[in-house]
Amino acid sequence: MKTILSGVQPSGMLTLGNYLGAISQFVNLQNSSDDQELLFFIADLHAITVPQDATILRKNIKSLTALYLACGLDPNKSTIFVQSEVKEHSELGYILQSLTYIGELERMTQFKDKMAKQTQGVSSALLTYPVLMAADILLYNSDYVPVGVDQKQHLEMARNLAERFNSRYSDTFKIPEPLILKSGAKIMSLQDPTKKMSKSDKLDKATIFLLDDENIIRKKIASAVTDSDGFIKYDVDNKPGISNLLTIYSCCMNLSIKEAEEHFKDANYGTLKSEVSDSIIKVLKPIQDRYNEILNNNDYINKVLDTGKEKASYIASKMINKVKHKVGLGRF
Ligand code: AMP
Ligand code: TRP
Repeated sequence: MKTILSGVQPSGMLTLGNYLGAISQFVNLQNSSDDQELLFFIADLHAITVPQDATILRKNIKSLTALYLACGLDPNKSTIFVQSEVKEHSELGYILQSLTYIGELERMTQFKDKMAKQTQGVSSALLTYPVLMAADILLYNSDYVPVGVDQKQHLEMARNLAERFNSRYSDTFKIPEPLILKSGAKIMSLQDPTKKMSKSDKLDKATIFLLDDENIIRKKIASAVTDSDGFIKYDVDNKPGISNLLTIYSCCMNLSIKEAEEHFKDANYGTLKSEVSDSIIKVLKPIQDRYNEILNNNDYINKVLDTGKEKASYIASKMINKVKHKVGLGRF
């Protein structure tokens, strides 16, 4: 039986990029087979690698749980839990730090990008972030990790650490593989389509949030940066704005990029933008309706997270005991 695991940070409202690149993949994987172990968590420990307001963070943890459920994760099939509630993540993260070189962490692209943006001091947890992520993955002997393309380098780090541990202490961890979609793995900013669409973009209209209402979605798409060529073609280098809109449309409509291009071959940019908005609303509206129902049901959310915590802790505690024993930690 294969194990599939992934996490999302509760560091703000989720974006259309998170949905198309990651969460829709979780749901499709979940529904594709019954013979698999699925674990999806709320990466709250990762969120505090940059400053967070405690009240807002706790609210975001609940909101992300409700969104997971609203997007179609089914607690009868998937284990849904909060990372910080399973203490073994931090424990294994620390142990793996002892095998990680500072130099390889300093070379991580996301660290360099985030450090450049940081106005207050850069925490050491931001540097060791990929090690905690490796712990998340290796703790459960994950075979596959569905993520957006920005996490590829972190997955490589997890594979390296697994191999390093295995060769130093004997075979212990499975070597995980990333699952990255061909299309949708990197949805771009609507205002600068050479940059990733991100939760933390300062320009609100650069990002579609999963809870944006219909009018806001239409306005944001209408003001999306395109070009002045006047024709619709998928060409990321020369037409990044139009290519991003075609990607969003094709993902929301379940079409290939070729089919989306064909659909718009005689259309103008106005028509493209209006149909892209329709396609997003078609996907997000049912999620928003379910979200609003679930968010009011504290008992249900708590039950899902309690069950998830128990199941995840059971698997994680067995692994951490094995690891500590191999490393020589604890009593003789
Ligand atoms: P994060 O919000 O950084 O916790 O990301 C959660 C998941 O969403 C990860 O698998 C990311 O790779 C994915 N993701 C984030 N932003 C995008 C984007 N703009 N396009 C596609 N996937 C994304
Ligand atoms: N670092 C991931 C992100 O920002 C979130 C994450 C944390 C994750 N731990 C993980 C994803 C383990 C996959 C597997 O998107």
